[in-house]
Amino acid sequence: MIILGVESSCDETAAAVLVNGRLASNVINSQIDIHRLYGGVVPELASRHHLQNIYPVVQAALDQAGVNLDELDGMAVTQGPGLVGALLIGLSFVKAISLVKGIPYVGVDHLAGHLLSVFLGEKKPEFPFVALIASGGHSSIFLVRSYFDYQLLGRSRDDAAGEAFDKVAKLLGLPYPGGPVISRLAVDGDRQAIAFPRAWLAPDSLDFSFSGVKTSVANHVNACRMANRELAIPDICASFQEAVAEVLVQKTMQAAEVLGVTNLVVGGGVAANPRLRQLFVEQCLAKGCSLFLTQLEFCTDNAAMIALAGSYQFEKNKTLTYDMDAYSRASILQ
Ligand SMILES: Nc1ncnc2c1ncn2[C@@H]1O[C@H](COP(=O)(O)OP(=O)(O)OP(=O)(O)O)[C@@H](O)[C@H]1O
Ligand SMILES: [Mg+2]
Repeated sequence: MIILGVESSCDETAAAVLVNGRLASNVINSQIDIHRLYGGVVPELASRHHLQNIYPVVQAALDQAGVNLDELDGMAVTQGPGLVGALLIGLSFVKAISLVKGIPYVGVDHLAGHLLSVFLGEKKPEFPFVALIASGGHSSIFLVRSYFDYQLLGRSRDDAAGEAFDKVAKLLGLPYPGGPVISRLAVDGDRQAIAFPRAWLAPDSLDFSFSGVKTSVANHVNACRMANRELAIPDICASFQEAVAEVLVQKTMQAAEVLGVTNLVVGGGVAANPRLRQLFVEQCLAKGCSLFLTQLEFCTDNAAMIALAGSYQFEKNKTLTYDMDAYSRASILQ
């Protein structure tokens, strides 16, 4: 079974080929350098660059896998959620190939891609597992019972974890995206230097809230500036990162404990954060849980996870008709 995966939900144009479940190519064209000038993703620019990049990226993925279009058994494309103009580029491209070549295609929910990206690694979890997906647009905890059965247990009520990293970086004058920069600078900082708040919400709540910690960093920065005190950037980064990571880990562990589930999965762009990974390793060791961290290269957006999630749908003989549309917000998982 040869599957082409296509992803264009935000600022990465990506294509990947999966041959009998094995990843044969994984091409990602990131627009980070373009959007960095504006401190965040500009939707219209993203769409235009997807349009320019989609053909060469898909061609490169096919070439690297040594596969031509006629050999494809199916295609999987991100259907939503994301920027609707950006999603439509990937979706229309795949629909066009499907029409011309008669190749069936499936639509994949971007979050399902992140949830299943752990299966691209060496160490694969057994069902059921509790999964934390922390990314630029989501911070959600799921109970995953099968490749198709996901139950949302908790979600962010305001900013997503990655969004908080990006906004804090911006107010510290650091480049977009904020997560990788903050985690690098945090290495030289003191995690206990500044007591930024942790929003635990109600004791049994598995929801997140990161807008408070973001505002607290802004207040700290303003107070330093008013007092003409130099900003201790590494300390701020380390203390902020600790506040976010601690809540993400604690609530995921709590979900697993309440449900009596011992397999834990962590995915999404923020799952690339070394401190978050370290805290999960420590906590899972202490609690006797099995931890499955998504491989670093598959944490941020990629088409390999879309191809993989799509391949499970093909196994169930699911395909789509041409009247299906992209969706920007209403993820099937929310
Ligand atoms: N080392 C890191 N530490 C913390 N955050 C990180 C790190 N690396 C990347 N991120 C964050 O991950 C986010 C990007 O992840 P991803 O590509 O999964 O998100 P997205 O696709 O934009 O959002 P979504 O998947 O919710 O639609 C950015 O917010 C970025 O700052
Ligand atoms: Mg993503």
